[in-house]
Amino acid sequence: MQFPQKHSATGTTIFTVMSALAQQHNAINLSQGFPDFHIDERLSDALGAAAADGFNQYAPMAGVPMLKQAIATSFKNRYDTDIDPDTEITITPGATYAIYTAFTAILSPGDEVIVLEPAYDSYIPNIEMNGAKAVIVPLTAPGFGVDWQRVSDAITPRTKAIIINTPHNPTGAIWSKRDWEQLADIVRDTDITILADEVYEQLVFDGERHYSVLENEELRARSFALYSFGKVYNNTGWKMGFCIAPPEYTQAFRRIHQFLCFTVNTPAQYALAQHLTLDTTPIHTIMQGKRDHFLSLLKGTLFTIHEPAKGSYFQIAGYERISNLPDKEFATWLTREHGVATIPVSAFYSNGKDDKLIRFCFAKKEETLTEAVNRLMKIALPI
Ligand SMILES: Cc1ncc(COP(=O)(O)O)c(C=O)c1O
Repeated sequence: MQFPQKHSATGTTIFTVMSALAQQHNAINLSQGFPDFHIDERLSDALGAAAADGFNQYAPMAGVPMLKQAIATSFKNRYDTDIDPDTEITITPGATYAIYTAFTAILSPGDEVIVLEPAYDSYIPNIEMNGAKAVIVPLTAPGFGVDWQRVSDAITPRTKAIIINTPHNPTGAIWSKRDWEQLADIVRDTDITILADEVYEQLVFDGERHYSVLENEELRARSFALYSFGKVYNNTGWKMGFCIAPPEYTQAFRRIHQFLCFTVNTPAQYALAQHLTLDTTPIHTIMQGKRDHFLSLLKGTLFTIHEPAKGSYFQIAGYERISNLPDKEFATWLTREHGVATIPVSAFYSNGKDDKLIRFCFAKKEETLTEAVNRLMKIALPI
């Protein structure tokens, strides 16, 4: 059987590779972006209760009304934005699915999508699976800010969409209000759709705040905004998320969604609906504590931090004082020899651009981070 090549990515994703290597070498896994601590007991209890109470059959296609309403209320409280739960919110099995569905709703073969790299690894394969082409605009180290002239120069009559990610994986950079305004200036006289991947919206540190595409009325009218409950409630394995988009865009999204998965895990929707109305410690407070703990310990190592992460689960670090190896080789060496798994940042570039940086995930228990840094401190001499 000849299987068609639907996208240009080959092999297994780096996340799977590094996690497998971590397991093989009994390494501490700071590679993949998931917490290693328990979720709020009230949430796991609510899941069990929803199943026990009989919420086990297909939910409505667009999502359980109570959950959509709870999301609209949460966004009203946090961003002062009015969202119609019936016509603008669709519950999805995670954000990765929502990104793919949004692309599928708008792309035709031959279309182009602008991707700012480094980028989350599903974007380009998803674009290509729809017969479209990714046009890359690099973000440049160390700040990883956007070069607006390059974005503007990358637009052609075939440009159908631009995908944005803030707070950013892997760099931890965040967009300012001004960034959104500059994007609005660039797309104003075009039909370009915006996909705003805001999965880390509740993970912004140091008293700064997340600016959502939903707060820019002009952009909101042409955007799919994509979210993940996994990054808010530390339950990435539930694979629950949602899409917020204007009614016409939501209709197009649901035209695909109804034939891709039709409807999403019912008891999880009820559990999340209930949890959204509870008082919970803001996740940014918890995660900033972890980032600060990790960064203060890391000072005792030979790794270089150019800038503390402003948001997300991730801290980028340089290893120029330790080695000259390409980042993939360095990350493999670090896992094998020192028992700490990370992600080489070149994995987030389609051309494998290597700035000799690695990405640590600090969404871990303090003792996990302490033990990892204890191991990193043993790297005493350049190799
Ligand atoms: C930038 C970004 N987008 C999307 C996702 C996927 O979210 P989900 O697990 O809800 O599919 C991730 C997960 O790591 C991510 O980092």
